This record gives sequence, structure tokens and C-alpha cells, in this order.
Amino acid sequence: MVEAIRNVVILGGGSAGWMTASYLSKAFGDQLNITLIEADTIPKIGVGEATIPNLQRVFFDFLGVPEEEWMRECNASFKAGIKFVNWRKPPEEDNKDYFYHLFGQVQNCDNVPLTHYWLHRRYNENNNEPMEYACYHQAPLLDEKLSPRMMDGTQVMSHAWHFDAHLVAKYLRKLAVGWGVNHIVDELVHVELAHDGSIASLNTRKGDRYEADLFVDCSGFRGLLINQALGERFIDMSNQLFCDSAVAASVPHDDERYGIEPYTSAIAMKHGWTWKIPMLGRFGSGYVYSSKFVSQDEATEEFIKLWDLDPNKVQLNQIRFRTGRNRRAWVKNCVAIGLSSCFLEPLESTGLYFIYAAIYQLVKHFPDKSFDPILIDRFNEEIEGMFDDCRDFIQTHYFTTTRNDTEFWRANKHDLQLSDSLKHKLETYKVGLIVCPPLTTNESSYYSNFETEFRNFWTNSNYYCMFAGMNWLPDKSLPKLDYRLDAIDKSRDMFASLKKRTAELKTKLPPTYEYLKMLHGSSGRKEELAIDYRLRS
Ligand code: TRP
Repeated sequence: MVEAIRNVVILGGGSAGWMTASYLSKAFGDQLNITLIEADTIPKIGVGEATIPNLQRVFFDFLGVPEEEWMRECNASFKAGIKFVNWRKPPEEDNKDYFYHLFGQVQNCDNVPLTHYWLHRRYNENNNEPMEYACYHQAPLLDEKLSPRMMDGTQVMSHAWHFDAHLVAKYLRKLAVGWGVNHIVDELVHVELAHDGSIASLNTRKGDRYEADLFVDCSGFRGLLINQALGERFIDMSNQLFCDSAVAASVPHDDERYGIEPYTSAIAMKHGWTWKIPMLGRFGSGYVYSSKFVSQDEATEEFIKLWDLDPNKVQLNQIRFRTGRNRRAWVKNCVAIGLSSCFLEPLESTGLYFIYAAIYQLVKHFPDKSFDPILIDRFNEEIEGMFDDCRDFIQTHYFTTTRNDTEFWRANKHDLQLSDSLKHKLETYKVGLIVCPPLTTNESSYYSNFETEFRNFWTNSNYYCMFAGMNWLPDKSLPKLDYRLDAIDKSRDMFASLKKRTAELKTKLPPTYEYLKMLHGSSGRKEELAIDYRLRS
């Protein structure tokens, strides 16, 4: 007889914990008792979270929450892509060096991504237009800080969001508790193991004992259950990505005067890079650096100088992190989700994505009390594939840059340990071939069909944005295009219609700031902002 799992205990009340609690509660309803235990925490300053577009379709739509609703509650703003600044040259050499990694997929022309026609044109017609300006309609609109949505809400650019992750956690807590999730504020002091080595109960400071069939470890970097109680090994990847620290702050911003940028910026620094995540009234920022190459004091000084911060007024958060993943994310009756499972630096905004991808896989592979090892193995393979694939993509950012002004950048060029699958992609690209198969789905089904999206997460478009942006180009264009003059003609029409679309949208789109002001109105956000400002002064 099948014995269904009836009790789940989640440890940790950050975004991973509350995302898991709300999603499981929606997925399984009253049939599953969910308890979330979180320690009392002091309020955190929001240094900004960036996301990717499928968050709405695969997460919030599943919960039944419309975009405007959670956006209002979480002070969210739009992100239509990432602007990479100074990744080719340091500012002293070129203070206008940037390119965009845009959302959305490049169109196909005769089943070949337009990026390949762009390269063909560049090599044969001496046309130096940057790739993202030729193959996407968004780039000039981002330059002008225009909104990805018209005033009436019509969406014209694929976009994701910026927000404070702790506001999202707080919002989801309200939802989940309303749906019956048991919220306990208490601290874990002891994990009791059963005779087979699985977790029997979590014992807390207030003297309570929480038993469950399944435990979800959302305790963050410490991995209290998966690593500390069950002893699962963490695979350290510091030889594959050198950054291991960050200094972060929330910076006031005059939106009225400067507008709001509808994108994340990733600004290359001497020993790493800095994120800039615009939200209403301020932006979150953090310098991600490698402690092997620079001291905390020096990095902090470089960061302060970048934004011209007053160290007496701004609260600086010093962060240490571990890059890598657990050998297995699911061990016996314990599943790790969030930072307790894996961490990759936030260069491509995959933090929350890792969380809801893991939750999705947990529901897909949900066990009964027999904990069939096949389910566990499949789940672990999915997480491993997802993580290692993203790590490879992040490595390409460091590997392909032309910066060589410091030890940090030189080490990235010469000492990174690359996986075989990445080496294979790099070789494929260099001889002009298509790196990833062109997508047969259109953009909207790409972002809604989690199964396909999950397997083709990094598409040809993503790779081309980075490579072309870094000016790291194939030695020749796709050989077969030389025989396809008809297709080349067709591509010219496609390039032209992208330009036309941009020109039209320029006359119609409001500034991002106007749209967000309209969206947020005078909603209850003020109180939350007050907390942040108090922390800073
Ligand atoms: N497949 C994801 C997407 O296109 C890839 C992605 C992650 C991405 N982070 C990004 C694309 C940032 C552009 C910018 O949505």
C-alpha cells in the first residue's frame, strides 16, 4: 500500500522557505500539513534581487497571483536585460564600453538564428553594428530608459523584475499562512536522527520537537540539515569561479531627475564586478570580488568610490559566500532548496530561479513514504544539470573578456577550470556553427513551458549576446549561409523590420519611471522604505 507523505517541515524563512511553503501548499492543498520554522531575525537592508522572465508564468501564475499585485507589495521594478559595463576595457581606457544581454529569443530566418546573419553581414559587408542593436528591437529603447510596457499595460519587451527579496518572502508568508501553513518562530538547537540515518525531528530552543515525513532545508549557506546533520559533502567550485565575497549597500537615487533604468547593470571592476539594481527611490548594489586578489578594505574603498558614497551614511553589508553545490541536493528524507543547496554568483540572476526550479522538480518527483531512490536520483540529476550548466555560462563571461589589467582578470583568462561541455561549445562557436540548437518554440511558449525552458535554458541567443558583446567572435560565419542568397535577402528584411518596430515603440512607450509611478501609486510601500532608510542613517 502507498503511504502518502502527510507532514512536511521547512527550516528557514527566507525567500527559499516561503517560496517552498506557498508553492507546496498550493500544489497539495489540505492533504499536506506544512510547518515552517524560522528564527527571529533582525530586518535586513534590501540590496536588490534580479530575476528572469519565467518567474511570473512558472511561479506566481501557479499561485494565482497577478503580476501587478505582487509588484505593488514588493516595490518591484522592471528588468528587460542586463547591461554589461566595462567588460571589454577598464573605464580609464574606454568610458563608453557596454553591451546588453537582452531577454527574449532572437528570431530564426530559415531555421538559423538571426545572429548568424549578423555575423555574415559583419564579415562580408563591413557592417559594424553591435549584435544586440541589429538582432533585437529593445536595445535603443533601453538606452532611453523606456518601459517594457505601455501605459495601458501592453507588454512590448520581454522582462523580468527587480525587488527586495525579503519583501517577497514577507508577501509569500502572508499568502502561505492564509492557506494554512503553520508558521513557527523558534530556533533549531538539535536534529534527531532515526536509526536509518534519516531525520526524525527538529528540536527547538523553546523545547518543542517537530517530526515530519519530509524535511526541506532552506537554512541558507549553513545547510543546517543537509550538510551539518546529514553530512552531505559540498562540492566547492572556487577553482572554477574566483569570486567569493561581496560588499553591498542600498543607495538613494533621484528618479525624478535621472529616471529609472529598466535593466540590471553588471559593471566590471578591478577584481570582480558590481551589480546595480534600480528600484523606486534607490538602487541596490554590491561589489562581487575575489578575496584571493583583493582585501576587504580595498574592495570596499573601490566600491565606495564607484558610487561616491558617504561611508558614515550608508550601511555596508559585508558578505562571504561559497560557490558550488552539494553532491546531492536530496538525501534520505531531506531536500535542500536555496543557498543550502547551491550557490552561484548573481551575474546572470539565477538565484531565485534555482529556488523555483528546485521546488518544481520536488513536486514533479514528489515521493511517498517509501522514498523511491529513482525519484531521488532523478531529482538530483536535474539539479546538478541545472547548476553546472549555469556555472558554465557564467564562466564564459570571465573567459571571453579582453580585460587583462589586473591579476584577477588575467587569472580568469588562464587559470579557470572549464568543463568538457563548455569547451565543446566554445569550439563549436569558433568555427561559426550554431552553439545551441535553434528553438522551435516561440518566445512566449519558451517562457511558459517549464520543461522545454529548463532543458534549453541557455539558448543560442544567450551565448551570442555574451560572445558578441565581448567582441569574442567566430573565425568565420556559418559556412552554409554562403550558398543561401535568398535567406540572406530575407534576413535583410528582418533586420529592417526590427528597426521599424523600435522607431514605432519610441514614440509610444512611457519612461520606466512614469510607468512605475503609475503602478505603485501611493500604495503601502512607504512604511517599508522607511525601515531601510532608518537602517542606513
Ligand atoms: N534563458 C534565460 C532567459 O533568456 C537566460 C537568462 C538568465 C538571461 N538571465 C538572463 C537572459 C539575463 C538575459 C539576461 O530568460
